[in-house]
Amino acid sequence: MHNLKTCFCGITFPTPLILASGIVHTPAAFMALASQKGVGGITWKSISLKPRAGHPLPVVTPYSAGFINSVGLKNPGVKQAVKEIREVKKHIKIPLLASIVAFQMSEFPQLATEIAKAAPDLIELNLSCPNVDDEIGRPFSTDPLLSALAVQEVKRVVKHIPVIAKLTPNVVDIKEIAKAVENAGADAISAINTVGPGLLIDAKTRKAKLGNKIGGISGPSIKPLALRCVWDIAKTVKIPILGMGGVNNGEDALEMMMAGATLVGIGSAVFGKGFGIFDQINQQMLDLMKIYEIASFASIKLSIK
Ligand code: FUM
Repeated sequence: MHNLKTCFCGITFPTPLILASGIVHTPAAFMALASQKGVGGITWKSISLKPRAGHPLPVVTPYSAGFINSVGLKNPGVKQAVKEIREVKKHIKIPLLASIVAFQMSEFPQLATEIAKAAPDLIELNLSCPNVDDEIGRPFSTDPLLSALAVQEVKRVVKHIPVIAKLTPNVVDIKEIAKAVENAGADAISAINTVGPGLLIDAKTRKAKLGNKIGGISGPSIKPLALRCVWDIAKTVKIPILGMGGVNNGEDALEMMMAGATLVGIGSAVFGKGFGIFDQINQQMLDLMKIYEIASFASIKLSIK
């Protein structure tokens, strides 16, 4: 039997499968998910300095090749999130990643200082939400200098918690952004956030299907783009990668590792298949490792011929 334990930024995860940010929202749901077999770690919904009401409903809708969402970074603000994370951490045995999002660069030090009080195992910087362009313009991770500055601002105040930069695929050259955040001191990269934004229309009513009209695309349709981005990043940087985007089964997860990921994020698949998806994917990976004669996760990293 292969060992699913995976080391990432010096932290041991019981399995390489991590809940992606934005899928689960309430403390009760985080605790319920964290107790499920096969979950390696959980990522909190992105937290901003102030509470946010988010975009009008509906905020997520499925389509034939995945999902489109525009939640609008709904969250209770960092003060409340710190209380919630502290409480959840008392009840779970797996690593917790806190995702933070700033609307101005100057918010990062305060936000990072506050969230560190909850003692998350890692901090993920959401530099890549595609759903708030009207408020902040293009996400920080569309620009190498802004991406680097965001990482520096957080690393300046948080010394003891690893910092992950979450990147957008909506750029000409993701390698350039990856190099910039690595040089700025990021401990890891997560990629990719959702693609777009895109638009879905109800032809009968001629209405956009999302309350915000446009939103980020996720699910199986983005897997090829996610794999290419992770592969590009892995060839460019030495820091580890949390790879995500359209991972739905064990074969997808192994492909993500072959592209260069150490951990694999599971997002939309949870909507489609429920909390049991983590155990299913782990089992599928283990079965496939026997069939494909894969000795370990490490042995397939960046192994595309
Ligand atoms: O709209 C949202 O809350 C999405 C955030 C993200 O994709 O980072």
